[in-house]
Amino acid sequence: MKHYKGVFITLEGSEGVGKTSSLKFVEQQITALGHDVVTTREPGGTELAEQIRGILLAERQEPVESKTELLMMFAARYQHVTQVIKPALERGQWVICDRFVDASYAYQGGGRGIQVAQIEQLEHWCLEDFKPDLTLLLDMSVEEGLERTKKRGKADRFETEQLAFYENIRTAYLNRAKKDPQRMKIIDAAPSMQQVQKSIQQQLKSFVESYATPDL
Ligand SMILES: Nc1ncnc2c1ncn2[C@@H]1O[C@H](COP(=O)(O)OP(=O)(O)OP(=O)(O)O)[C@@H](O)[C@H]1O
Ligand SMILES: [Mg+2]
Repeated sequence: MKHYKGVFITLEGSEGVGKTSSLKFVEQQITALGHDVVTTREPGGTELAEQIRGILLAERQEPVESKTELLMMFAARYQHVTQVIKPALERGQWVICDRFVDASYAYQGGGRGIQVAQIEQLEHWCLEDFKPDLTLLLDMSVEEGLERTKKRGKADRFETEQLAFYENIRTAYLNRAKKDPQRMKIIDAAPSMQQVQKSIQQQLKSFVESYATPDL
């Protein structure tokens, strides 16, 4: 795997678990260590990828095929990785991203039922062995997470799915974390924001202590 000067951190988890709120906290923590931080999100992160996001999230009459959804996610991701994420890492910046490839395994895999092997093919084609250095998986009960998103107003196409869809997403995320415990750290997202931030701080601390920046 190619080593970059910068570090790539992703935040994952189902709806309303606190990814976007936590992203800001991670940004503050890493900035306080003196690193140059870029925050971004998926799907999106470039003008084109944000347009794909709009297409993906829009409510529509026409059913969206699971493979169409998966391919659009990867189209946006490839654009984002190539145009934004890798160049920032090359410059030595720390990139913090709200969702990344694990979300495809959780949503299009666990949620929509696409086989893991098919997602792996796309991942390999588009990303080769490029992976986040650290992934914080925010985990909590599906019902409580959805309850949090309700306060935000109108639901998008993903937020109008049935409960079973989100349960499958949660399970897929947890299974991935079990398979890759070195990279993916599970954070209990149910307690207060302050407590969640404390857990995140601990994970960042042990990551930073163990992470050796490669000599380039
Ligand atoms: N630990 C917490 N306790 C209580 N409320 C929280 C907590 N974390 C986040 N929230 C609130 O829950 C709502 C959802 O949080 P946030 O938008 O960060 O979640 P998200 O994971 O980014 O959601 P989405 O998947 O929809 O993007 C926000 O109103 C936020 O203020
Ligand atoms: Mg969010």
